[in-house]
Parts: sequence; structure tokens; C-alpha cells
Amino acid sequence: MLEIERLSVRYGPVRAVEGLSLTVASDAAVAVLGPNGAGKTSTLRAVSGLVVHGGSVRLDGAELAQRSPRRIAKAGVVHVPEGRRVFGSLSVEENLRVATVAGRGRPARFSIADVYDLLPALAAMRSRGAWALSGGEQQMLAIGRALVASPGVLLLDEPSLGLAPSVADRIYDTFRRLKGAVGLLIVEQVASRVLGIADTVVVMREGRPVGSGPASEFTDPHRLARLMIGVGADDGAPDVPGPDVTEGQRAADV
Ligand SMILES: Nc1ncnc2c1ncn2[C@@H]1O[C@H](COP(=O)(O)OP(=O)(O)OP(=O)(O)O)[C@@H](O)[C@H]1O
Ligand SMILES: [Mg+2]
Repeated sequence: MLEIERLSVRYGPVRAVEGLSLTVASDAAVAVLGPNGAGKTSTLRAVSGLVVHGGSVRLDGAELAQRSPRRIAKAGVVHVPEGRRVFGSLSVEENLRVATVAGRGRPARFSIADVYDLLPALAAMRSRGAWALSGGEQQMLAIGRALVASPGVLLLDEPSLGLAPSVADRIYDTFRRLKGAVGLLIVEQVASRVLGIADTVVVMREGRPVGSGPASEFTDPHRLARLMIGVGADDGAPDVPGPDVTEGQRAADV
């Protein structure tokens, strides 16, 4: 279980994350939704030890805050970052083989054969150089690499970004099959797919949590949009606010 408590991340004067708390049980999926700049990537980077943070991040009760990114990954927190990092000069299969090294010392949950089973498109191109994969294929490979690294918790940063709908659907099918075996913390800007798999949703805006609860509470797109972009209060107010008339303008109109 991953427990994030009162997380804060600052870059100089920029408060990227402030007061974020959430829990990812080892068999659950949690979605973090928010617009550009909301602090989603910073949250995942903090959990992985890639940026200094305040607050507490615990894995199965053990504090991760003082550990290096390498040790955090070794403990089973596996991060699929924005922009899919794969080794372009290696083949698909070599990329997977290299990634198994990261999981050494933990019980292997997914073999390379399991990954090919989950993502058959990868099996078909196992000897192709990763440089010759499309964006969606690279994303599948990045997810395959994360799986063979024996994750306890998978951190997925906008896994559907830039993908054709059918490819994004396939990737979410994979997550659905993983759920139960691995804790999933999925960051997205687009809610539709992730709401189909998440147990819990946290909405962030300008670094702060502005709403959280069971995914079933976030199926109203108007409510979600209000939370994400901060238009009106989350109180059933109209979706589109009236014109922003100042007292001065009103006086001038009279
Ligand atoms: N290295 C950095 N130095 C300074 N400010 C940063 C840095 N990285 C991010 N920020 C700022 O921190 C805030 C949160 O950024 P972050 O990348 O976490 O947002 P995000 O929710 O992932 O956005 P997106 O959806 O665009 O990926 C933004 O205001 C961003 O400009
Ligand atoms: Mg981001």
C-alpha cells in the first residue's frame, strides 16, 4: 500500500503541490485528474524520489522520503513517466530484458512472456529496434518494461496522451487486467477512460486537491469540469458563469 500524506513540492517560488493526501491499496486503482500545470507529474516525481518534497510517502508502512530514486524503484514503485522512455538502440525484447534487472530481488510478477500475452502487438515486433516503434507502440513497450520490473505500485503519467483512441483503449484494457495484482496510480487530464477503472479519484488544480472520493462521484462531466478548471463553485452552480461585470462597469451602464 502506498500512502501519500500532506505532500508538497516546490520549485523555488513555485508551489507545484500543496497538501495532497491519498492512498493506493495494493489491489486498487487511484486516478489523479487535473489540467496542465496542476501538479500531477510533480506528485509522481516526488513519490519516485526524483524531486525533493515535504510530507510523507510510505510504502507498506516504510517511509520513502529519504531514499534515492533507485532504492524507491527497488522497493517496487515503478514509474512510467511522461513521454515513454525506451532504449531506442535496443530491440523490443532487449528493452524488456534490461528492465527485468530492475526487479531483481523481488518476486517476479510478470515474465516477458506474460507481457507478450497482455500486449500481443509487442510480441509481433519483438526483434524490431525500439527506435522504429510508433508513439503508441513505445507506450506499450514502456508499460511492458514497467511490468517486468516487478512493480508493487505502478505510477502512470498520462498513459493515453497522444495515442489513437483504439491504442489508448488497448492500454486501458491492459490496466484493467493488471488491477488486483498491482496498485495503480494513474494521472490523466482526460477522465473518460480512467474513470472506468479507478476506485478513487483525486482532482488537483494549481497544486492542491480540490475534490476526492469514489470514482462514482465523478461521472458527471460538468461537475468534473468545474472542479478541474475552477469555473464556479462545486455547489450545483450553473456550468457557465454569467458575464463578469464589475461594480464600476455596472455604474457606467446605468
Ligand atoms: N523543474 C521545474 N521548475 C520550475 N517549475 C516547475 C518545474 N516542473 C514543473 N514546474 C511547475 O510546477 C507546476 C506543476 O507542474 P507539473 O508538471 O507537475 O504539472 P502537471 O499537472 O503534470 O501538468 P501537465 O498536465 O501539463 O503535464 C507548474 O506550474 C509547472 O510550471
Ligand atoms: Mg504532467
